[in-house]
Amino acid sequence: MKILFVGDVVGSMGREMISEYLPKLKKKHLPDFTIVNGENAASGRGITEKIYKRFLQDGADMVTLGNHTWDNKDIFEFIDSSKKMVRPANFPEGTPGSGLVFGEVHGKTIAVINAQGRTFMPPLDDPFKIVDELVDEAKKKTSVIFVDFHAEATSEKQAMGWFLDGRVSAVIGTHTHVQTADNRVLPGGTAFMCDVGMTGPYDEVLGMSKDSVLKRFQTSLPVRFEVPKDGRKILSACLIDIDNKTGKAKKIERILINQDHPFMAEY
Ligand SMILES: [Fe+2]
Ligand SMILES: [Fe+2]
Repeated sequence: MKILFVGDVVGSMGREMISEYLPKLKKKHLPDFTIVNGENAASGRGITEKIYKRFLQDGADMVTLGNHTWDNKDIFEFIDSSKKMVRPANFPEGTPGSGLVFGEVHGKTIAVINAQGRTFMPPLDDPFKIVDELVDEAKKKTSVIFVDFHAEATSEKQAMGWFLDGRVSAVIGTHTHVQTADNRVLPGGTAFMCDVGMTGPYDEVLGMSKDSVLKRFQTSLPVRFEVPKDGRKILSACLIDIDNKTGKAKKIERILINQDHPFMAEY
């Protein structure tokens, strides 16, 4: 089974990249299941129901979130009815939505877990403890388990990778918006990389207007980050090949589409 995972989609330019390249990526790599992180899809802050549905139309089978989950206040009206949406599992108990969601691929069940780190991030419940419990719950239904670990620190992400090695198919990081080159299959059979990277504005700072980010750094004033609507774009993703029976990963490849990258010509 192949899983395609596309990292943090930022604003309208990110959504344009999904509409343009997700069908092309699917045609080229033939993934059985496609996951998109959509925490920044609505102007960089959260997701709307319309965008969520558009992702599904464009070819996503599941949408994961992160620390921006609640930025669009309408989320409370649709998160519980959106059955292909996963939010960080370690939000306090009773929070709307779910941190573990099951999908179906050719009669095979796949579990998708989303969790958020705590290092240099807002305080939340212990992600290791909660993911541990959710993996046990998912194991009752399937051996194919994908974890989107939305975290800032590479150390926390590597720790989660080793914590889950051999128990899940993949632990892939999101949130930093910069793709890391450490993709590997850990010895126990878990595909890992610290961060899959982002999808959206390319010539900016993590998808936000470089002028507004620079101004905040230079003045320390609460400058609002703007999300550019035109310019060059990037799509960041990874492709994981998993043994259907054991749930162990065989291979993980990085995918980058941008004008500085030779891969763009392939699409
Ligand atoms: Fe993000
Ligand atoms: Fe984030």
